Amino acid sequence: MVKEEILNLLKQQHGWISGEVISQQMGITRSAVWKCMKALKEQGYHIESVTNKGYRLVSSPDVLTWGEIHPFLETRMLGQKIYTYDQVDSTNLEARRMAERGAPDGSLFVAETQNQGRGRLGRSWIGEPGGGIWMSLLLLPQVKPSDVSQITLIAGLAVCLAVRQYSGLPALIKWPNDVLIHGKKICGILTEMTAEIDRVSSLVVGIGINVNIDQFPATLKDTATSLSMEAGKQFARAPLVASVLNAFERHYFTFLEQGITHEFLTQYKQLCATLGRQVKVVKPGYVQEGLASDITLAGELVVDTGQGPLVVNAGEVSVR
Ligand code: BTN
Repeated sequence: MVKEEILNLLKQQHGWISGEVISQQMGITRSAVWKCMKALKEQGYHIESVTNKGYRLVSSPDVLTWGEIHPFLETRMLGQKIYTYDQVDSTNLEARRMAERGAPDGSLFVAETQNQGRGRLGRSWIGEPGGGIWMSLLLLPQVKPSDVSQITLIAGLAVCLAVRQYSGLPALIKWPNDVLIHGKKICGILTEMTAEIDRVSSLVVGIGINVNIDQFPATLKDTATSLSMEAGKQFARAPLVASVLNAFERHYFTFLEQGITHEFLTQYKQLCATLGRQVKVVKPGYVQEGLASDITLAGELVVDTGQGPLVVNAGEVSVR
């Protein structure tokens, strides 16, 4: 992709670069360089052009393209292939469709808007344009369906670590993988798999992060928040996408080699807001209350109900 490579050149230059140098380095004509600059400007890049000096990148738009995400990636697999969409029904659905068409392990699907965003427990997820990160990772691990709940813990920890590092805000995890700031949700994760009885065929980890959203509908305003509301400023989204993938891959590779480790669990527990709290476990036809006391190596929550420990691996847990 010539346009992406020219963008890389402009970014590395941190100043003026002549059209002549670009055309020589890229092996294209000056007029092809000019056309690429025009296309980049149309995408929102502020590029100055001055006779005898050439081109200079002044600022980049907050877009989630390969060109913006890739420079921040430290991964070997995750996000090496990025599919971007202005609008899609749901990035999870799209990832699943593309898996059937041979999309590679670790592919990232990211959309500006989703018109059928999906949440957990059959709920919908609002994916407004420009304000958030709506993305899905396609994973093709050789694991059993029962291992998938552990991968959802990894996704939760990865987002939590990335948000803390990128924004400095005190993000915590609500078991198994919601991410909260000051008790309100900034990220939801929906993991969906296609599997045979004893083997996962493909896994889609859908992650929604409220980044620059300044208002929520009345039904969500007491429970949802965004990075911009918490920090009082806007954030560029591409570096955060890359930070999530970087953190996810580190823990995911360790998991594929060793399973969930004590080290992982210790870090997860330190950032888990659910532990030590009174919780209500709601499953179909069943409600129990108790103290969330531990998380097992299998990723289950242990709840002390007074009549012995209850091990929870699905359903909805609400903190009282
Ligand atoms: C939840 O209910 O908390 C999970 C929400 C998951 C939302 C994300 S946004 C990107 C991906 N695509 C979807 O349709 N859903 C997930």
